Amino acid sequence: MVSIPASGQFIQYTCWFGDAPNRISGDKVRIHPNEVLFLAPQAHKDIYGAKANVRRATSYKAWQTSVEPNTAITIDPQAHARKRKLLNQAFTDKSAKHAAKFVVEHTERWIDLLADTKDAPSGDGWTSTRNMSDWNDWLVFDILGDLCFGRSFNVKEPKPNPIRKIPHLVIQHVQLFYPILQSPFMDFFVWAKPRGIDYLLNLITPPEIKTYYKFINDSVTDRIQMEKDNKDSEQARLDMFHFLCAATDPVTGEHYTVDALQGEAAMLIVAGSDSTSSVLAALWFYLSRNEGTYNRLVDEIRSTFTSSEEIVSGPKLASCVYLYACIDEALRISPAGPSEFAREVLPGGTTINGERFPAGVVVGCAHWAMGHNEQFFEEPGVFRPERYIPSEETGVTVEQVNTMKSYYQPFLIGPTNCVGKNIAMTEMALVVARTLFRVDLRAVPGENLGAGNESLGWGRTDEKQYHISDAYITVHKGPILQFRKRTG
Ligand code: HEM
Repeated sequence: MVSIPASGQFIQYTCWFGDAPNRISGDKVRIHPNEVLFLAPQAHKDIYGAKANVRRATSYKAWQTSVEPNTAITIDPQAHARKRKLLNQAFTDKSAKHAAKFVVEHTERWIDLLADTKDAPSGDGWTSTRNMSDWNDWLVFDILGDLCFGRSFNVKEPKPNPIRKIPHLVIQHVQLFYPILQSPFMDFFVWAKPRGIDYLLNLITPPEIKTYYKFINDSVTDRIQMEKDNKDSEQARLDMFHFLCAATDPVTGEHYTVDALQGEAAMLIVAGSDSTSSVLAALWFYLSRNEGTYNRLVDEIRSTFTSSEEIVSGPKLASCVYLYACIDEALRISPAGPSEFAREVLPGGTTINGERFPAGVVVGCAHWAMGHNEQFFEEPGVFRPERYIPSEETGVTVEQVNTMKSYYQPFLIGPTNCVGKNIAMTEMALVVARTLFRVDLRAVPGENLGAGNESLGWGRTDEKQYHISDAYITVHKGPILQFRKRTG
């Protein structure tokens, strides 16, 4: 059994801090008196794998807003496994195929708006500037609203809509809580939440968030009625909600209750929106600043497809090797969820990377640092999708690619991994392929939102890098881009 040394003492750690020259070597670090983070490949399997003797850490309780926690914040492994079995039934290949139809509809409308030159300052075909963090949020939010509630939020439409601010407010809300969860007051906060803090928080909740909750509750009520009315008819809407309604507990045969449906649907919006939006933002940033990468991707998409209607989920899209390499690279260099996914060791202790840890110790893998581990990723601060494509020319081997991919897992592994992985990958591939099929994009000279700069401080000055902040979710800004209907 390892005895935990004094708080904050570096045991061993390898990390590349942005573009900073200083690096610390090793493979684990104690970040709090009771928490150790790892970089070693085996540690990821030991902490998140199916046999791990851990549970989600107590800090997950801080996100709980109803009596019954949703799947993503359920701590007890048995309770989580029961909920996950139900949730899995809404994430089958069949549901992913139907989800793709909703993704395509929203994406096409989004590209129409993106390419609209009505408000363009000049008549050269380029649009006015677009802040892609906002534009991605709106697209992803509309897609998820449609998938989870059977109603689109319609926030991408350029007209007054109180829900439009919601993605931003959700991020603000998470940013407010995250420091508390990282502080010594976390246990007190979790204890005090149901004993008065939740009541106080409700008093200061912005009216827009209340409108959003009302919208969710009304949508779920209406959608349940629609499901009952059209259950077996051809009008049945085959969105995720349909599959959630149909899900049955294999042991009890029970369906979700209305409260649970509301909780799960709201959770899916949070879990699926900022994650996908932030990875897309990073991808747009690097495409707009790396001409070679951009041209190669555009060539691949425009030579694979002859019309945008052809760009659907299927073998042709899957054949776009460079597209998927770009997405993998964006997931690595700018992860959705940059920090650790904290787990607490259960009674009996556990072995992590060959060392024993006692019950109660909080452990995790430092996600951002893993994706920037020089042992696995040469020049980790550089956006280079080629690293995932075996080729004699570049010297990249199949073995190297497999090693990188088994080491760095942006969707996690094991029982608490991302249930939406397939939908997220399909969504990102469709959005990028359809966009680049129809429009050209470019960075706006002098507009560096999202890029590193001196004012961000040590380790965050490289303007070729997209910089994000950790708030459990990924806080991101920009990039600012312009679009033009494709000319070639
Ligand atoms: C780029 C996109 C995405 C990434 C990188 C990502 C990554 C992750 C990660 C790392 C976790 C584990 C979190 C933890 O244990 O604290 C997770 C969980 C989860 N994700 Fe995703 N996610 C993405 C998109 C989505 C989408 C689109 C959906 C749904 C439509 C979704 C639904 C969920 C749910 C429900 C969980 C909780 C699973 C459980 O507790 O069993 N995610 N995701």
